Amino acid sequence: MAMITFKINRYNPDDQRGHYLQEYRLEVSPGMTVLDCLNEIKWTQDGTLTFRRSCRSGICGSCAMLVNDKNRLACETQALSLKAKTITIKPLPGYAPIKDLVVSLDSLVSGLLAVKPYLITKTPPPTDQERLQSPAEADKLKGLYECILCGACTSSCPSFWADDKYIGPHAFLKAYRFVADSRDEGAREHMSALDDKHGLWRCHTIFNCVEACPKDLNPTRAIARLKQEAVKQKIG
Ligand code: FES
Repeated sequence: MAMITFKINRYNPDDQRGHYLQEYRLEVSPGMTVLDCLNEIKWTQDGTLTFRRSCRSGICGSCAMLVNDKNRLACETQALSLKAKTITIKPLPGYAPIKDLVVSLDSLVSGLLAVKPYLITKTPPPTDQERLQSPAEADKLKGLYECILCGACTSSCPSFWADDKYIGPHAFLKAYRFVADSRDEGAREHMSALDDKHGLWRCHTIFNCVEACPKDLNPTRAIARLKQEAVKQKIG
């Protein structure tokens, strides 16, 4: 057990104070995640504290937030593993704030929709049942389909901080997930929005997205492959 001070971002658009940090103290036991701590604070100290969460299992992506200066999933972060007497929790940087730790994910969704994140086919399926894929072809998608769309990668990217229309590493990873899929026949459609001032070429390969991803994925590598694909498409 350890007594930890939590400094949590408070923000209410109707309150003149703007953003400020509010302190709460909580006895934290081994096994408690940052999300458990937030829930405990909300349930026992301050019911007005607002944050997103759903699955508590690192699946839904709802609970991404800036915890001690790093984007993390609150439900996958053991509070005691931070080895800190004070834990500071702020919303994901770069997104428009809504309340306390909740941000608007509109730009995350519009970046995703820009890459047409679904299988595009133009030919009839080879059988009357489904489009088959070999195990080797399926293996090529490992590290691409596991994204839970928490937004941690794009939120950590200076290109996004400078341009809120930047499509973002989460969407590039999703685009490459389909471009690399042996069943997909729509590479040009997935990439049509990427060769643009808000697209691929704004990535400066600084790897913040790799550092931030709670699922250990590598959007930077996907971006490099999409850049190769964009050049190939241009030279025919
Ligand atoms: S609550 Fe779903 S990922 Fe954390």
